[in-house]
Amino acid sequence: MTAVPYVDLIKQNQALRPRILDAIDRVLGHGQFINGPEVSELEARLAQRLGVEDVVGVASGTAALTLVMRALDIGPGDEVITVAHSYVATATSVSLVGATPVFIDIDPETGLMDPQLLAVAISPQTKAVIPVHLGGIPCLMEPIQEICRAHGLHLIEDCAQAIGSTHQGRSVGSFGTGCFSLHPLKTFSACGDAGFITTDDQDRAALLRRLRSLGHRDRDHVDVASENARLDTLQAAILLTKLPHLDDWIVSRRRHAAAYETALRPFFELTNVTEGSEPAYSAFVIRHDARDALIAHLASRGFAAKVHYPVPIHRQRAYEGMTPPQLPHTDALVRRIVSLPVTPELESSDRDAIIDVLIDWSRNHA
Ligand SMILES: Cc1ncc(COP(=O)(O)O)c(C=O)c1O
Repeated sequence: MTAVPYVDLIKQNQALRPRILDAIDRVLGHGQFINGPEVSELEARLAQRLGVEDVVGVASGTAALTLVMRALDIGPGDEVITVAHSYVATATSVSLVGATPVFIDIDPETGLMDPQLLAVAISPQTKAVIPVHLGGIPCLMEPIQEICRAHGLHLIEDCAQAIGSTHQGRSVGSFGTGCFSLHPLKTFSACGDAGFITTDDQDRAALLRRLRSLGHRDRDHVDVASENARLDTLQAAILLTKLPHLDDWIVSRRRHAAAYETALRPFFELTNVTEGSEPAYSAFVIRHDARDALIAHLASRGFAAKVHYPVPIHRQRAYEGMTPPQLPHTDALVRRIVSLPVTPELESSDRDAIIDVLIDWSRNHA
């Protein structure tokens, strides 16, 4: 086991443990485990924090994406344009509603959806576009928004890794309909699965609240068949204890990222942040041809690093039946990327030690 893990969930929750236990106790006290008051309180606070009209709490980031597509009536025969350089759930959600994911290549500089490739991928079947703010780096939203507007396409932002990130001073998830994950490994995380959706459309929010609850209009009536994908009251209560710390956690992540950026830029190829963006860095990604050797070397010195993600979605067996799209930048990038730890629990002395090990290593692997 490495001495410095990529994420230390025990350390993260340790400091908050008494408050988390109190929050759980309060829920046990009122017994409203489904749609309890903590769910609507968290939704209201998140809406305020992110500068959106409404937030709908759901069971996971995947459920957020799936429910939004149900709400937009996306289904069999429809195409949804996205990227293959993401966690598989981006595309799984499209498949789950019976639609077809269409993958376009990334901009190699940012590793994010290339807006120039978007316009040419649009077909009469295209219903929506899902840009992914991977690693917390916001996509270049203006051209994507413009293309969606011009072609009448729904814009669904995959913000699973990007809470706290802004583009042109606006939170991600405020450009289209935002889908966030609160998975334990995320910047703002539950003690289990959870997620939420951001929208400025009150009617859509009301529909999403029905859709997360099997389509119930009221206790006894269901207008449209859907899934059970509610945000658990216990998770909402835990998340409420964590929310006051979110801004500090984002500051820590940005501090780690700035230190890596300054020290490593002369030695490594790094991801370029899109203009006008302030990422909250769920990961700090560096690139090297000898990526696997680099990770092994870091591990030998006691430091964990990860790859997000080594197998792009179009190369997953789940999608092997599809005509393989030509995504040369995606295929090249996933062989070279390494995510360095940036969590608030990471000591700056450990981060600086990681930097020293990397610079030393790069001198022998130019
Ligand atoms: C980019 C991306 N999209 C979607 C998801 C799905 O979120 P969840 O695991 O909460 O279902 C994740 C989670 O890792 C993700 O990273």
